[in-house]
Amino acid sequence: MNVSTETHVNGNGRAAQALFRRARLLSWFGRRQQALALCRQAVTHGDYSHAYTLMSRLSLPGEDYFAVLGRIHRYLKPQTYLEIGVSKGKSLKRVLAETAVIGVDPEPKLAKPLGNNQKLFTATSDDFFAQHDPRAEFGGRPVDMTFIDGMHRFEFALRDFINVERYCARSSVILMHDCYPLDARTAQREQQTGFWSGDIWRLLLLLRERRPDLVVRTIATPPTGLGIVLNPDPESRVLGAQVDELIREYLAKDFSVLEGRQSEALGLVANEWPAIRALLDARMRSQP
Ligand SMILES: C[S@@+](CC[C@H](N)C(=O)[O-])C[C@H]1O[C@@H](n2cnc3c(N)ncnc32)[C@H](O)[C@@H]1O
Repeated sequence: MNVSTETHVNGNGRAAQALFRRARLLSWFGRRQQALALCRQAVTHGDYSHAYTLMSRLSLPGEDYFAVLGRIHRYLKPQTYLEIGVSKGKSLKRVLAETAVIGVDPEPKLAKPLGNNQKLFTATSDDFFAQHDPRAEFGGRPVDMTFIDGMHRFEFALRDFINVERYCARSSVILMHDCYPLDARTAQREQQTGFWSGDIWRLLLLLRERRPDLVVRTIATPPTGLGIVLNPDPESRVLGAQVDELIREYLAKDFSVLEGRQSEALGLVANEWPAIRALLDARMRSQP
């Protein structure tokens, strides 16, 4: 039984590899749609990360989200920045030296200490917001820019969004990682694949459906999209007032709700700097 299982797995692995190699060749010759189709076929044989990575590069071409985050920092020059989920500090490296930073992570893995104007809170984001007022931590200033990249489950990201919005100005920008899944398997709540985005897509769907006052888009950055929310309203209690019902309602949605309409449902924007800059330029500027 073990042997036959192993043979079966190896056979599947070989099939996936062959399909991936053909896909890679087609991608070199610019035959994107055919390459994508072969990648999709390859991952039906198992969790084949090379095929997912190629699928991501073919579906979401251009600069990765770190580079785009860096561009947004350089363009907006935020005075204050909040990052939920700092890990080793790779995204924190994109922050300007003059920006005041709050990082929140229950298990940070930073290789070097933070700068003078950077504070790290070793806590979950829920605990952080229960115990601290980010505006007070920033000396009375609103949170100009936020990156939500903590626990990759919809309900955690939703609570992060609700908590952060209260401390924003209308001109603030809220970014979220992993908003554009490649397929149903990599979008599961439980990680089953090496390449994984979790179910943050539900938050994008919810914000686009329930908060028409916001501008909610997904920038098509590899590997899995960068969500962006403009015109946050610190006075809004629409989401907070019904958070449990919203969690229940959106957790009940199957991935198939995105079928054939994913880019429209998640507000996909081309990963091109002029398009991103135009989006930023059109945001509200008035102070609350
Ligand atoms: C994907 S990593 C963040 C990567 C980082 N932003 C970067 O790009 O370098 C996710 C991080 O979220 C943290 N995390 C997990 N649960 C969390 C929670 N409830 N609140 C805040 N952070 C959490 C993890 O410890 C982990 O370091």
